[in-house]
Amino acid sequence: MELMDAMLQRHSIRRYADEAIPEEKLEKILEAGRLAPTSMNRKPCVFCLVKDRETLEALASAKSAGAAMLASAGAAIVVFGDSNKADTWIEDSSIALTYMHLMATDQGVGSCWVQMHMRKDANGGDAEDNVRRIMSAPDSYRVVGVLSLGVPAE
Ligand SMILES: Cc1cc2nc3c(=O)[nH]c(=O)nc-3n(C[C@H](O)[C@H](O)[C@H](O)COP(=O)(O)O)c2cc1C
Repeated sequence: MELMDAMLQRHSIRRYADEAIPEEKLEKILEAGRLAPTSMNRKPCVFCLVKDRETLEALASAKSAGAAMLASAGAAIVVFGDSNKADTWIEDSSIALTYMHLMATDQGVGSCWVQMHMRKDANGGDAEDNVRRIMSAPDSYRVVGVLSLGVPAE
């Protein structure tokens, strides 16, 4: 797909068919994240591919609204930005999320950015803390967002 076509076709897709996403498509989406530029080439991002249903459901509850689609997603990519490696973890993570969102479009995979940074859960708890706990990640791993993925049903 031409880049402009991918940009024109890109939408946030939140409803998914009950079908597995082909492995080679997931690999291409992850590769797009790895190819994203980072400040001073510090590469602070760590990408965690989640397919386990229980973990996807837990991530869906990590914040109070706007994450429900994760429970029925075919997969999700949690983007961590190690704040010990770069003070630009927000920018670096955001660019990686955007690259992967566009690559998902190119591959015909539906995706949606699920913001976690500065968001709260239903009890007022911090969404980023919830994601770190669910994923057993260290405190220095900051979370701008999670990319929800699935075969489009919309
Ligand atoms: C920084 C950022 C955070 C977002 N967070 C969420 C979110 O938490 N939940 C959600 O359903 N969509 C989220 N979105 C998707 C936007 O709602 C969506 O991009 C916007 O409404 C435009 O729709 P489109 O992507 O289909 O063009 C986010 C998008 C961005 C860029």
